[in-house]
Amino acid sequence: MFAYPPTEANIQFFAQALQAGGLVAMPTETVYGLAALALDEAACREIFRIKGRPLVDPLIVHAADMETVTTLADCPKGLALLAERFWPGPLTVILRKKPVVPDLVTAGRDTVAVRIPRHPVAQALLKATAAPLAAPSANPFGYVSPSRPEHVSESFGDTVPFILDGGPCEIGLESTIVDLTDPLQPCLLRPGAIDPVAVGETLGRPVSVKRESRELTEAAHAPGTFPSHYSPRTRLVLFAEGTPPAERAPKEAIVHLKAPAMDRRGPHTYWLSESGDPGEIARTLFALLRELDKKGYTCIQCELPREDRGGLSLALRDRMVRAASTKGPLPS
Ligand code: TXA
Ligand code: MG
Repeated sequence: MFAYPPTEANIQFFAQALQAGGLVAMPTETVYGLAALALDEAACREIFRIKGRPLVDPLIVHAADMETVTTLADCPKGLALLAERFWPGPLTVILRKKPVVPDLVTAGRDTVAVRIPRHPVAQALLKATAAPLAAPSANPFGYVSPSRPEHVSESFGDTVPFILDGGPCEIGLESTIVDLTDPLQPCLLRPGAIDPVAVGETLGRPVSVKRESRELTEAAHAPGTFPSHYSPRTRLVLFAEGTPPAERAPKEAIVHLKAPAMDRRGPHTYWLSESGDPGEIARTLFALLRELDKKGYTCIQCELPREDRGGLSLALRDRMVRAASTKGPLPS
C-alpha cells in the first residue's frame, strides 16, 4: 500500500491534481472518500466509472465552510442551526440545489447532499483546492466502505494512485443523512454517528426515522434497485446480541460485539471491541469484514447490537443488516 502523508506539499499537490480534473482519495472522520471537483461534470463522471456506481445514485458534495454551502444550495433557517451544532462533522444534509451543481452529481434530482467534514486533512484539502468536492465512499459500488487508507488501495490498486493518508477513520461508519428539503418534515435517510434525536432537538421538530434499514435503503433508492449494499463477498448472517450463534459449520467465522469469555474463544472467533463500546465497534466493523473476506470463510456469523444501546446502535444495525445476505426477519 502506498498512501501519501498529509504534508503541506502533498496537500498542495493533491489540490492541483483535483483542480486539473483528477481524482483523489481523501480521509474524512467517517470513511475515506473518492473526491473530484463537484462542479466539474467530467471529473465526477470518472468517480461513477471507477466505482462502477450506477448514474442514478447521487454523490455527496463536501464543502470547507458555510459560505461554500450557500453557493451550492438554498439554505433554510434550520440548516444554520444544524451547521452551528454539527458542522464540521459527520452530518450530511439534503437541500434544494442551485443550478451550478451538475445534474450528474445529483442524479438528475433537484436536491443535493452537502457535508462539511471535520477531518483536518479533508479540511486542508478543501481549503487548498478552494472548491467543493464530490466524494462518495472510496469503495467499489456495493462493497464495504473504506475506513483505512489500505482499504482504498486494496480495492482500486493503480486506478486510484493518489491516496492521502489520514490514518484509520475516527468514526468508521458513513455520515448521518438528514433530508431537509421540506424543513417542516425533516427525515433521516441514513443513520450515522449524529443522533437523529439531537438533530430534531436542534431543529425544534422531530426527525422522522424509518423503522429498519431495509426501508431506509428503499427510501433512498428506487425500491429493489440495490438489493445489497455495504456487503462483503462472503455470506454474512446475523444473530441477536447476547444469544448464541447458530450451530457453527466448518470454515465459518463468528464475530462478537465484545470479547467473549476465554472458554468461548475458538480459532475462528473474532470480536469488534474489547468492552462492547459502540464507538470501538463502529471503528472496527468495516476493517474486520474486509479482513475476514480475505480468509476464505464460507460464512460469517455476526452479532447484531440491540436497538436500545443508544447512539451508534441504529447506524451499526443499519450497516450490518445491509451487509447481511439473509433478507428475512431480523434476529431478536
Ligand atoms: O460519510 C460519508 O457520508 C462518506 C464520506 C466520504 O463523506 N460519503 C458517503 O458517500 O458515504 P456515498 O456516496 O457512499 O453515500 C451517499 C449516500 C448515497 O446513498 C446516496 O444515494 C445519498 O447519499 N444521496 C446523495 N445525494 C442524495 C440526494 N440528493 N437525495 C437523497 N439521497 C442522496
Ligand atoms: Mg458508499
